[in-house]
Amino acid sequence: MWMKGSWPRLVVALALIASVMAGTLAAPALAGPPTPAKGQGDKCVAPTDWMRRNHMKGLMHHRQRTVHEGIRTPQFDLNRCIDCHQVKGDDGKPVTVSDSRHFCRTCHDYAAVKLDCFECHASRPGETTTTGGLEGSPHGAPGAGDVASLNRYLEGAGR
Ligand code: HEC
Ligand code: HEC
Ligand code: HEC
Repeated sequence: MWMKGSWPRLVVALALIASVMAGTLAAPALAGPPTPAKGQGDKCVAPTDWMRRNHMKGLMHHRQRTVHEGIRTPQFDLNRCIDCHQVKGDDGKPVTVSDSRHFCRTCHDYAAVKLDCFECHASRPGETTTTGGLEGSPHGAPGAGDVASLNRYLEGAGR
């Protein structure tokens, strides 16, 4: 039979294990599942539930169509994600992906997903290229416009 008092101890033990594990994966302050900042407007480009699980498919598919077939549709435009999901920092300006509060990092840090998209793509609205290709617009970033290297990258990235 379960003794009274076992539950609290079990819960404390589990919480301890969870916090230790979270600490080795990402920020030590993580106490539970990530809570991404609320997006602007009242809905995303697809139902939120679908987006939560499948945003990467939409992005990859859209990229394929844009870069290889020259088709431009607004639904999965990365700049629009960045715009609607901007998170303001202490200075009132949208944070870049170097800040752990950045929308795209909230879950990715938690799930230990690492993206290199923002080596070429801007991670906040209105960003211009000042860092020699880092976080600049792909149109202006040196190297990013190099079609051969881009294609090599895309082939490597698969999907
Ligand atoms: C017009 C504004 C807008 C655009 C553009 C937009 N979103 Fe959203 N997004 C929202 C809103 C509003 C929600 C649901 C409310 C919320 O944030 O909890 C949401 C939800 C999400 C979620 C789920 C968040 C959660 O709490 O689980 C993800 C992931 C997401 N969006 C990714 C993207 C990506 C990737 C793009 C670009 C392809 C994008 N969004 C474009 C407004 C937008
Ligand atoms: C080596 C530089 C580079 C990297 C890294 C990169 N991209 Fe791109 N991406 C480009 C360029 C250049 C274009 C073409 C820009 C255009 O024509 O608008 C592009 C276009 C796109 C497009 C279609 C246009 C748009 O803005 O929506 C999407 C979506 C996209 N990339 C998503 C991604 C994602 C997601 C990642 C990370 C997994 C990524 N990219 C990584 C350079 C890069
Ligand atoms: C609601 C949580 C959440 C948010 C917010 C979120 N992601 Fe993700 N993302 C995930 C998870 C979880 C995975 C890993 C899924 C997997 O491995 O199957 C992932 C994977 C990805 C991948 C594929 C990476 C790879 O190497 O396979 C891309 C690209 C991506 N996310 C782009 C974005 C962008 C861009 C944003 C911000 C606009 C964003 N995500 C915001 C949860 C999120």
